[in-house]
Amino acid sequence: MRKLLFAVAAAAFALAPAVAQAQSPIVIKFSHVVANDTPKGKGALKFKELAEKYTDGKVKIEVYPNSSLYKDKEEIEALQLGSVQMLAPSTAKFAPLGIKEFEALDLPWLFKDDATYSSAMKGTVGKWLFQKLEAKGISGLAYWDNGFHMVSSSRPLTKPEDFKGLKFRISGSKIADQYFRILGAIPQIMAFSEVYQALQTGVVDGCENTASNYLTQKFYEVQKDITVSYHAHLQYAVIVNSKFWSGLPPDIRTQLEKAMADATEYTNQIAHQENEDALAEIKKAGKTQLHYLTDADRKAWQEAMRPTYAWAKGRVGQEVLDLVAKELDVKMN
Ligand code: LMR
Repeated sequence: MRKLLFAVAAAAFALAPAVAQAQSPIVIKFSHVVANDTPKGKGALKFKELAEKYTDGKVKIEVYPNSSLYKDKEEIEALQLGSVQMLAPSTAKFAPLGIKEFEALDLPWLFKDDATYSSAMKGTVGKWLFQKLEAKGISGLAYWDNGFHMVSSSRPLTKPEDFKGLKFRISGSKIADQYFRILGAIPQIMAFSEVYQALQTGVVDGCENTASNYLTQKFYEVQKDITVSYHAHLQYAVIVNSKFWSGLPPDIRTQLEKAMADATEYTNQIAHQENEDALAEIKKAGKTQLHYLTDADRKAWQEAMRPTYAWAKGRVGQEVLDLVAKELDVKMN
């Protein structure tokens, strides 16, 4: 009897690691550079909640916000190496991979409003751009919205000539580089996590970003003047390591795709209001002066930045410009 008990206990002991292994969830690390309390931050947490629910806990999503795992440039390299499985970089950050076409989305005054942006990305343009990522071992799952850029500095920016000589931090897009240069400013690429300090210490004079990022990164505390210009759009591509994603059990992947579709709808629905609320909070804090463009100012900015479109042809290529023009029913050149 004792012998039998021993045998049963020994067998159970031997099996334990295998059982534990069979039950241990698939871990997906989801890294991003913004705060939790932003459209992207909330979208990532919503995806976590839904993915874990829909897969009955078979998948665990670890969300790393605020560049806590990787900074801008490193995160895409880490995704390709498989050290992280999911990201949501702004589309401006694909250029170092040699994929410049996404930058067409950064053209100034391109999207009329969030709805126009959203429907464009659901159509041909969005799919065409995602195909460009496949050769790099990256698959695109969804586009997330974060509304329109404001621009700020230590002096008011309401006329094109106000930009002259000022150093601006940009996130990576050569289109942004170009429109700032056209205005006589000096653009400089810098990681998102370094912007606050660069503004505070005067390494750069100004930057552009959305209200939710200005608020949560406290940029408004170190910028005397913000212009609510909404001159360009900030959008994200939610991406995964292709090999990891295609290697998932099909039933799990289906549930994750459903979680992503639902989280995308949620994120794109809240983005506009989140930015409005953030702007109201910045205003309430009273630390910075907000400026708004008159119709004449806006027209002057649009005219001044217009050469960016002709320049873009040599940078992003005619094909994507044609696709965007068709989708939005606008003229590009
Ligand atoms: C930036 O670098 O300014 C943005 O890409 C940050 C963000 O919202 O991801």
